[in-house]
Amino acid sequence: MAERYAALLATEGVVRGLIGPREAPRLWERHLLNCAVLGEVLPEGATVCDLGSGAGLPGLVLAIARPDLTVTLVDPLLRRTIFLEEVIAELGLESVTVVRGRAEALHGTARFDVVTSRALAPLARLLDWSMPLVAPEGAMVAMKGRSVVDEVGPVRPILAKHGASEPEVLELGSGESTAVVVRVTWADPARVSWPLADRRTAADQRRSSSSKKRRHNT
Ligand SMILES: C[S@@+](CC[C@H](N)C(=O)[O-])C[C@H]1O[C@@H](n2cnc3c(N)ncnc32)[C@H](O)[C@@H]1O
Repeated sequence: MAERYAALLATEGVVRGLIGPREAPRLWERHLLNCAVLGEVLPEGATVCDLGSGAGLPGLVLAIARPDLTVTLVDPLLRRTIFLEEVIAELGLESVTVVRGRAEALHGTARFDVVTSRALAPLARLLDWSMPLVAPEGAMVAMKGRSVVDEVGPVRPILAKHGASEPEVLELGSGESTAVVVRVTWADPARVSWPLADRRTAADQRRSSSSKKRRHNT
């Protein structure tokens, strides 16, 4: 399945401008394996929301490598969500949903065990976009470069605003497949009171909430 995904990235992904042509020969080491190591910090059976998924990195890689996960891929750009839908259909991935929209639009509608991202935004903005989607016992896990350690000090007021714990910077994987991630949990899970993720996808939850609104309006 991963090989089929790599082939789609190297062909349609490049043609549609979702992956740079120079990335095609180094898809495995720089993209697929690099994203797969994130699996080390994902609990069995977790619900995962991948913000700014782009061509599916890391969300689709995780869905392929870990069929126990329920994955929601979020991206505002139609060109990207069309590609994601096509890959999901082609690979027959049943536990993946695509939501076209911005991270902020999901706030208050769902929470997930893990909110992932790669190359999405500076840490301050990542916290604002991700933490409102993290379940009480969950975590934000963002793939960043090693320089993320320099971002931690300046974001302390934002961590305090959200009630988030001190970030952990972890190096995952080994050999050529390594990734630096920043992991942030809640300081006090008992104080997290927004809607919780259930096993339905964010899309199902939005459908059900709009049908409730329709019932309410009639
Ligand atoms: C630099 S790309 C990274 C894509 C992919 N994660 C990767 O590592 O290849 C950033 C992605 O974030 C998406 N994006 C930008 N603003 C966003 C937002 N507010 N919420 C969710 N996604 C967003 C963009 O459309 C784009 O696909």
